[in-house]
Formats: sequence, C-alpha cells, structure tokens
Amino acid sequence: MTNLSGKHIVITGASTGIGRATATICTQAGARVTLIARRADLLEQAARDLGGSTAFAAADVADKAALHGALDHAIAANGPIDGMFLNAGIGGMFAPVEQYTDEMFDAVMAVNLKGVLWAIQHVLPAMKERRQGAILVTGSLASERGLPMNAGYVASKHAVLGLSRAVANEVAEFGVRCNCIVPGLIETPMLDGLPPEAASQMAKAVPQGRTGQPEELAKVAAFLLSDAASHVTAQSWAVDGGMLGTMRV
Ligand SMILES: NC(=O)c1ccc[n+]([C@@H]2O[C@H](COP(=O)([O-])OP(=O)(O)OC[C@H]3O[C@@H](n4cnc5c(N)ncnc54)[C@H](OP(=O)(O)O)[C@@H]3O)[C@@H](O)[C@H]2O)c1
Repeated sequence: MTNLSGKHIVITGASTGIGRATATICTQAGARVTLIARRADLLEQAARDLGGSTAFAAADVADKAALHGALDHAIAANGPIDGMFLNAGIGGMFAPVEQYTDEMFDAVMAVNLKGVLWAIQHVLPAMKERRQGAILVTGSLASERGLPMNAGYVASKHAVLGLSRAVANEVAEFGVRCNCIVPGLIETPMLDGLPPEAASQMAKAVPQGRTGQPEELAKVAAFLLSDAASHVTAQSWAVDGGMLGTMRV
C-alpha cells in the first residue's frame, strides 16, 4: 500500500470518477486531501464521507482567479501542497474536425490544458522553495494517439502531456516531479458520455478484455504522487489494460 502520511494532496475533478476514487485511496494512504471541482454539493458529501482533515473548494478550473482562490483555500486548510493531481477534464464533442466548433475547442482547451497550466504556475514556486512536490496530470489515450472524431480533446490531451514533460524538465533540479497518467477505458461518468458504438468498439481493443475501475487508476495515481515514485518524472504512465502497448490483429 502506498504511504502518503503527512502529505497534503490536492485533487481537481474530485467530485466524481477518477478524482473521487483517488481522494479515497490517498486518504486511506494517510494524506490530508483537498478536493476541487465545480459541484459543491458533491464535494461536501465526499468530504463528509472521507472525514478527517478533508477540505474542499468549489471552483471552475477554467476560471483562473477562482482556481487560484481554491488552491489558496487548500493551503489555508491543510498546509503546503505536497502533491497535486490535476485531473479535471471534459470530453469535448464527437464531430469531424471541420465541424468542430470554436466554442467547444476553446472550452476543452480551457479546462483540460489552461486549468492545468494555471494550477502549476500558482503552486510551483512554493514547491521549488521547499524542494519537494509531485504533480500528476491526467492525460488520455488521446495524449498518445490521434483518435478520430474529437480533435479538440485529442489536441488538449496531447498538449497536457507535453506541458507535463516540459515542467518535469524545468523543475527536476528543484526536487519536484511531474508526470502524466494515461487512463484507458475507465468506468466513470465520462465513459458513459461516449457514443455506445464507440465505447464497445474501443473496448474490443483492450487486451485484458475489460474496462478499468476508477480504483485501479487511483492506486497508480497515489503511487506516482508518493515518495515511492521518487525517481519517476516526465513519464506518460498508462493504466489501460494493455491498450497502448499492443495492437489487436
Ligand atoms: N474515464 C475514462 O475512461 C478516461 C479516459 C481518458 C481520460 N480520462 C480523463 O480522466 C479525467 C477524469 O475524468 P473521469 O473519467 O473521472 O470523468 P468524470 O467522472 O466526468 O470526472 C470529471 C471531473 O472533472 C470535473 N470538472 C469538469 N469540468 C470542470 C471544470 N471546468 N472545473 C472544475 N472541475 C471540472 C468534474 O466535476 P464538476 O462537474 O463537479 O466540476 C468531475 O469531477 C479527465 O481529465 C478525463 O479526460 C478519463
């Protein structure tokens, strides 16, 4: 079991799915956890369920001032941030690239990419000063592959992997790590949003023959946020039942 005792872990996109499951695993591993997402009612319930020192702040990560305010609230509630899981994301739209709307492209970039950049910019100076910190961003198979029919999402997830690697390179000498975790097909509300034919088509490409549970992703996220991963940085780490490493023929 990963040990996060004494650490303050902030998780965005913590109201449901992968973020919510990671909050549970990190709490079980001994961390003080602060939850960020837009839906305050879900965060409040999660904080109550997790108990202890769990804090929460409702914020839209695409709103820079609100995001920075939520991070400041996290620090006030639970102390300096040791680990930050930048996981909030939206799925974009399913359409050919020539029909992708400006509005959706901008929205996907704002949540999946700019929200990650703004959180890192806000928290990094303290991490560098303390010479410790682990940042983990959530990518996607779309960080590594040019999946069709959702160009905005694919562009945002390629970009966030690039961002995490650039940050990792800049901050390694300060004792700070930055990695990207790549979920395959994980059973969350976001997966429910896929067109059924797309979901079943993609599921056929999983060598393990099944989709993943949020807890299976969360355990790896907790490990990457912990000191057990002290020599792991600038990585794209897939939790995908073998999809990226194989080709089904
Ligand atoms: N499930 C999969 O198979 C899969 C595969 C590849 C990548 N991913 C990635 O995994 C991450 C988590 O997704 P999930 O699968 O766990 O789906 P999910 O259950 O829909 O979780 C998305 C989370 O992001 C939050 N969020 C969305 N927009 C936000 C905003 N503007 N500001 C703050 N929070 C926001 C949502 O909370 P609120 O609505 O309360 O704000 C929710 O907590 C995403 O980055 C997604 O792209 C998932």
